Formats: sequence, structure tokens, C-alpha cells
Amino acid sequence: MFENIQAAPADPILGLGEAFKSETRANKINLGIGVYKDAKGNTPIMKAVKEAEKLLFTTETTKNYLTIDGIADFNQLTQILLFGQESEVITKKRAKTVQSLGGTGALRIAAEFIKRQTKAQNVWISTPTWPNHNAIFNAVGITIREYRYYDAERKALDWDNLIEDLNNASEGDVVLLHGCCHNPTGIDLTPAQWQELAQMSAQKGWLPLFDFAYQGLANGLDEDAIGLRTFAANHKELLIASSYSKNFGLYKERAGAFTLVAESEAIAATALTQVKSIVRTLYSNPASHGAATVALVLSDDKLKTEWIAELTEMRERIKKMRHLFVELLKQYGAKQDFDFIIQQNGMFSFSGLTPEQVDRLKNEFAVYAVRSGRINVAGITEDNINYLCESIVKVL
Ligand code: LMR
Repeated sequence: MFENIQAAPADPILGLGEAFKSETRANKINLGIGVYKDAKGNTPIMKAVKEAEKLLFTTETTKNYLTIDGIADFNQLTQILLFGQESEVITKKRAKTVQSLGGTGALRIAAEFIKRQTKAQNVWISTPTWPNHNAIFNAVGITIREYRYYDAERKALDWDNLIEDLNNASEGDVVLLHGCCHNPTGIDLTPAQWQELAQMSAQKGWLPLFDFAYQGLANGLDEDAIGLRTFAANHKELLIASSYSKNFGLYKERAGAFTLVAESEAIAATALTQVKSIVRTLYSNPASHGAATVALVLSDDKLKTEWIAELTEMRERIKKMRHLFVELLKQYGAKQDFDFIIQQNGMFSFSGLTPEQVDRLKNEFAVYAVRSGRINVAGITEDNINYLCESIVKVL
């Protein structure tokens, strides 16, 4: 039976990581997967995380199962981070959260929930987007529609076409939005654009789904939530897939959350029962360690302050690398203007490199990036940036 199975194509992002591992050239650089690296090129465990883990190690008393929805404190603290303590969504208890297996797990729960429990005909996804968005919604059999997001010529948000395309989204359709640090472009909406889109969404009756995987990596924890909070202020219903992989550096611990907001506490509670039955058939109940760590950090003033300081440092290092990258590209003789990279948010930059140029970077210089031209700016360090810029200028 198995002899007829066709090989699946390598994942455009994770497949790259596998290829990078077996790369033998010493000067290799990985700008593929969205993982933060410090100035030395390491992906460190944050100090606040390590301290919380030590505490957990000494205080944990059982390995009994978690409940289907996971750690209650974690879910509550997640809502506060998303909406802000004073949000009406929280005071009226209109949100329900389940702990998930990272942001991808949350998106899969969202997709199953949309498919089984709503009348949504379509999910609208930006072009470009993170490739797994399409794969996840295809997996549950929801029709994908695309809205334009990126103007390749101007290297900027394609706002007019975004509005034109989303004008075709019908009542009940799901519109998938990147909360901040749009993946792959790094280009976010302005507060005024969020406001306009939220009004359009409420008027047209869309069901917004926020993919919120990079909170704190653009401009700050509250600043980055402005889009989500603008929508939350004028929507009865909302879905959010959030992740602690990047802002806590907890990648392999798979700490994330799926949150639904309903018109009332009672409706949210009923909807939650359906979310729990989805989780039960997917993986029964979540793993504890990552979420327990997050909950400890967020509930302890000292650890939380330490975490925010470390997150700020990460964000600032990425911004610094953006400036240096643009400056050095110029110095090494790039004729194109790369200033747009400075304006982009978060880990990623849509560099404008063509797939052929990306292939040359890999084959000739051992520099790995996603073929769409997305580069992980967080993978650039003072040690590799000269070689990187020199290599890029050679393939331009
Ligand atoms: C990325 O886009 O590189 C990250 O979100 C990691 C992933 O799972 O693809």
C-alpha cells in the first residue's frame, strides 16, 4: 500500500532549516526560519524564563493531566496581554481561551472551529502570507480567498488594493489579519488604517481572525496590540491565535493560545465547550511546561519586569541590525535603495530579492533565506553582516 505514496514537498521554511543543518561551509548564515538570535548568533533562553523554570522544577508536585483547555492562569494572563487589563472584553468575561500547541496549534483550532461551528464560506488571506496559513485552511477544507497586501514596486503596503479586495468579503467570511510584524513583509497597518479596517469589518459583518505571533517585537507589548484592541472595541465576535514562541523564546515548548470573543459571557462559555471537543479529538489536552513557565513569569512582578526588559533588548537589537544592514548594503555598492527595510517591523524583511537571487545566495555563498525573498533580520549579527552584505550585493 505504501509503495505508491508520493513524497511531499519540503516545507518552504522548516525544510530550509533541515538543509542548513547539513550545510558544511563554515561561513553559512541562516536567515530562513523566524527565530531570534542574539549578537553572538545564539538563540538564548531568556533569563526570566530560566528563573521561572527553576522555580517550577522545585515546586511542581504532579505530572497529572492538564484539563482540555490547559492552565487557567495562563489563559487569563494571555487575555490580559492581548486586550489590556481594563478591556471590556475581560471585565465582561466575553473571551474564552484555551492553551494551544504554539501559534500553529491555535490556528488549527481556529480553522476547525470555523469549519464546524460557523457559516463562514471563505477565509481571506493576505498575499503574501506565511505559507502555513494556506496549508492549515486547506487541511480543513475552507475556501481560501486572497487580498492584496504588498506593493512590490513601492515596497509598501498595498492599502488601496487591500480595501478593494476585502470589499468582496461577504458577511460571515473570515478575514485573517496579522496582529503585528506581518509575516513575511514586516509591514503593518497604521493605527488610522486599523481603525478604518475595523469599521469596515464591523459594518460588513466579517469574522476577524488575528494571527498574533510577534507581540512585543515591533514597538512594544501594548503598542503592538493596537490593531487587535481596535477590532475588539467594536466587534461582538473575534478569534485570536497567539504565540509565546518568539516573545518568550519558547519555540520548542509550543506555548500558544486560542482565544474566542463572543457577544456575552454565556455565548462564549457555550462556544468554549465546542472548542474543547475539538482539542479533545486533536491532542486531548496540552503539554504543561511552556505555558506553566509563561504563567509564572507573567504573574510575578519581578520576573515580568525582567522579561519585558529582555524583550525590549531583542527588539532594539533587531532595529539596530536593520539600520546597519541598509548602511552596509550601500557601502558594499548596492545601487538599489534599501531604506524601506528600516521601516519594517519585527523579525522579517521582504528584501525584494528574487527566487533566483536567493538560490544564488544559498548555492554560492551558503546564505539561506526563504525563496520569497523574506529574510530573518534577527539572524543578522555584527559578525556575519559584512559577509552577508557583500554576498547580497554580488547577486543583485
Ligand atoms: C516562520 O515564519 O519562520 C516561523 O513562524 C516559524 C514557522 O513555523 O514557520
